[in-house]
Amino acid sequence: MKITKAIIPAAGLGTRVLPASKSVPKEMLNIVDKPAIQYLVEECAKSGITDILIITNRGKGVIEDHFDYAFELEENLKKNPAKKDLLDAVHNVADLANLYYIRQKETKGLGHAILAAEAFVGNEPFAILYGDDIILNAPDEPPVIRQLVDAYEKYGKCVCGVKECSTEQVMKYCTLDVTHLEGNTYAVHKIIEKPDREHILSHFSILGRNIVTPDVFDMIRHTKPSEKTGEIYFSEALSGLAEQDRLVAVDFVGKRYDMGDKMGIMQANVEGALMHPEIGPAFKNYLKELAKTL
Ligand code: UTP
Repeated sequence: MKITKAIIPAAGLGTRVLPASKSVPKEMLNIVDKPAIQYLVEECAKSGITDILIITNRGKGVIEDHFDYAFELEENLKKNPAKKDLLDAVHNVADLANLYYIRQKETKGLGHAILAAEAFVGNEPFAILYGDDIILNAPDEPPVIRQLVDAYEKYGKCVCGVKECSTEQVMKYCTLDVTHLEGNTYAVHKIIEKPDREHILSHFSILGRNIVTPDVFDMIRHTKPSEKTGEIYFSEALSGLAEQDRLVAVDFVGKRYDMGDKMGIMQANVEGALMHPEIGPAFKNYLKELAKTL
């Protein structure tokens, strides 16, 4: 079945980037001149996704405003032909996809947030993009969700996007027991969320992209909240799929930035600025001059 629906959980509290995320959702923090979540919606649109559910929380209404028309602003920009590019940039963002919103009323973890998407998804396979994981691709590379959709169509199994991470990152994210299938694809046998050092199965961690089938909702419902944090971890439901031999991992092509982390935000902005068509060359010169003083 063709994958046309995606969900973006964006209801977390963003405690690692406080106070910036106190009144601005971390998903709305910018990378150069666009909020992080716009990169996710663009990735979906380029991958053939037409309908996107964003899972939000109190105080995240600006996300809806960003993906809407802005009549007053647009009328103002229309008066100045020199601002046509800005007008297009502001207007077209509202037409990238059909956007839907639902609230996760209590912040009980990613698995709990995903449950809120059940009615939206119906009986179709769907994509999940974590709201603070931004993955940038070169113009000649397929976007990550497209890479995962291709694997789903080839293997007929659920898919997670992975990268090899440092031991410290694996202990913060999750670890996967895998065997190599071909190219950049692996069969997944088990996943452990936030493993202790001695329980690390491999250095592959899931970095914010999955394709799953709707039976994952039952798996989430059967997942017990973590004894340490009280959160329902989504990777434990995915581990249920892995144990039934229904999950493959794709070591995707693309550079990932963690917008829920101060270092990740800075890396995304520095590298995003270097790639930016308008300011890239000037920013590179600035960095070169700055490096001389370090
Ligand atoms: P994170 O664990 O990185 O987000 O979840 P967080 O809870 O906001 O992080 P900190 O530790 O407080 O800084 C990954 C994604 O899942 C969403 C987040 O918004 C983020 O995009 N999420 C997390 C939810 O939607 N609901 C939750 O209950 C937890």
